[in-house]
Amino acid sequence: MKIIVTGGAGFIGSHLVKRLLNLGHEVVLIDNFSSGNRDNVPPGTNCMEIDLSETDFITKLPNGNYDAVCHLAAQSAGALSAANPLYDLQTNAMSTLLLSRWCIDQGISRFLYASSMVAYGNSDKSPVSEDELCVPRSYYGVSKLTSEHLLRLAGVDGLNVTCFRMFSVYGPGQDLGNVKQGMVSIFLSYMLRGVEVPVTGSLERFRDFVYVEDVVDAWVSALDMPHTPKQSYNVGSGHGTSVRDLLSSLISALNLSSDYPIRELEGNLSDQFGLYADISNTVHDLGWQPQTSLDDGLRLMVDWARTEYNDQG
Ligand SMILES: NC(=O)c1ccc[n+]([C@@H]2O[C@H](COP(=O)([O-])OP(=O)(O)OC[C@H]3O[C@@H](n4cnc5c(N)ncnc54)[C@H](O)[C@@H]3O)[C@@H](O)[C@H]2O)c1
Repeated sequence: MKIIVTGGAGFIGSHLVKRLLNLGHEVVLIDNFSSGNRDNVPPGTNCMEIDLSETDFITKLPNGNYDAVCHLAAQSAGALSAANPLYDLQTNAMSTLLLSRWCIDQGISRFLYASSMVAYGNSDKSPVSEDELCVPRSYYGVSKLTSEHLLRLAGVDGLNVTCFRMFSVYGPGQDLGNVKQGMVSIFLSYMLRGVEVPVTGSLERFRDFVYVEDVVDAWVSALDMPHTPKQSYNVGSGHGTSVRDLLSSLISALNLSSDYPIRELEGNLSDQFGLYADISNTVHDLGWQPQTSLDDGLRLMVDWARTEYNDQG
């Protein structure tokens, strides 16, 4: 297949690009490198530097008969979305609108979208299913849910859309230098530097941590289908883990002392208290199963991070 991957230089996108290339697909990677990394672009990959927050970006898109677009490019740091909601809307939702209409004009039939569990807001129903009412609490969450609705309308015009409401994705390649994005990578980066870990919000909050290669499995399974029975699918482990337990698991994966310094700070109002995924639709419709336990995934991430950290001196 010929596939466009936006955000392909980012954490999840780069894992997806590598998998697609290994499977023999032809990939065009689009990124503006705002949070992505040029080292994430495999040598020889067709890579285009395009900013999807610009209103005329479709004029720069490549010509060619593409089979699918995987749209992962987004600004996803909660603090940045609160500070600049307009940019968040442009880079996350407007980009989805323009890209989906471009696909319809170009006759590209398949569109996969990186949505998020933040779309649910503070639902107290865990495991949460895709049918739950979505009331996002952050501008970032609104931009993700808005994108899903824009894609629903594109679906009426014939685009075959699948949205993944991904939960907390972690794994090798997550940016350890960015302490605004990614709970596991943030905590890990503090611990690797041997400094106190500031935790914004209660240690009793919980998340559903899902390993990045398991996430890629879901994307690839959906790409193999011309369309999916539902538009939106949860991609999580199906288990909740408290922030406290995550910190203990990281401490033991790094062989640190059990009294490693952690400081609980006041949380953000827009933060979700806790949610984990009902993955039954994803398992049933995509034939998908997460394969990696949190302990195994953290070990793999810590091994990678140690090499990365040592390499950076
Ligand atoms: N990491 C998670 O836990 C998680 C969970 C749910 C959803 N998501 C979504 O998955 C996608 C990928 O997340 P990630 O963790 O890999 O983040 P990331 O920041 O590592 O990747 C995003 C990529 O998009 C690029 N990008 C951002 N704005 C752009 C623009 N205007 N034009 C072109 N490229 C742009 C960045 O440079 C980066 O390479 C995002 O859409 C994010 O909202 C992530």
